[in-house]
Amino acid sequence: TPRYAVFGQPIAHSQSPAIHRHFADQFGIVLRYDAIEAAPAQFADVLAQFAHGGGIGANVTLPLKELAASLCAELGDAARIAGTVNTLTRLGDGWRGDNTDGDGLVRDITDHLGQDLRGRRTLLLGAGGAARGVAPALLDAGIDELVIANRTPERADALADRIGQPDRAHSRYWADLAHAGAFDLIVNATSAGRGSAALALPSSLLGARCLCYDLSYGEAATGFLAWARSGGALQAVDGLGMLIEQAASAFERWHGQRPDTAPVHAALRARAA
Ligand code: ATR
Repeated sequence: TPRYAVFGQPIAHSQSPAIHRHFADQFGIVLRYDAIEAAPAQFADVLAQFAHGGGIGANVTLPLKELAASLCAELGDAARIAGTVNTLTRLGDGWRGDNTDGDGLVRDITDHLGQDLRGRRTLLLGAGGAARGVAPALLDAGIDELVIANRTPERADALADRIGQPDRAHSRYWADLAHAGAFDLIVNATSAGRGSAALALPSSLLGARCLCYDLSYGEAATGFLAWARSGGALQAVDGLGMLIEQAASAFERWHGQRPDTAPVHAALRARAA
């Protein structure tokens, strides 16, 4: 049986094994997909062991995505630009690393939520690995202006520089957001977590048809989503859909077929409710 896994810390509550099993069932593919906990200091060894034991594909989550990029023999474009990897594919005696997070976010918004990204004025909160992973895909999907705000402003500047499209993507001070106008899409890529106090944001950011999207899901997303709903956002969604869509992109890379994600969205939402 071919072996697959997701690596992270913590990893016990990961939805990825269930998602991949669901996809595999759609095609009658038999595979083994485990959740494997690894601390950063042990990850290189644990991954080598996994390969030695027949592991041919893996997903990578926090806090190992940057480290995973450093362990790859080959990187896809999105992974190279982000400096982070969420999908590993065995190639000969090395790993190829891809980052399907941005693609997953865009697919969740366009295919699953049925919304058009083109022309949307977008605010990206955060400038860490998660923000780097989704910014290029949002720009490729045709959003209008991308404003990046981060608690530590130097990191927002660095991300804007890295994107290198000064006419479309630029940074703004967090403290200055009250004067940044209204947005059509607000993406929370911070790890600020629970409690709306963690993200003291002005409601003037919420445009009339604003979609608020938190890249996290579950408890970690509650603070931002509560802020969005109380401010009257048209839609406030967590990152469970993005998780499903990035898993589908990984599955497609490994098995050459894209699974139908709709039944998995329904099943996981039903379980979360
Ligand atoms: P990741 O790779 O998951 O993005 P990270 O690189 O540690 O993780 O980045 C976490 C992000 O959350 C950063 O943008 C961080 O802001 P700083 O760069 O200023 O640290 C942001 N963040 C974490 N806690 C926050 C808080 N309480 N308020 C606002 N931003 C916060």
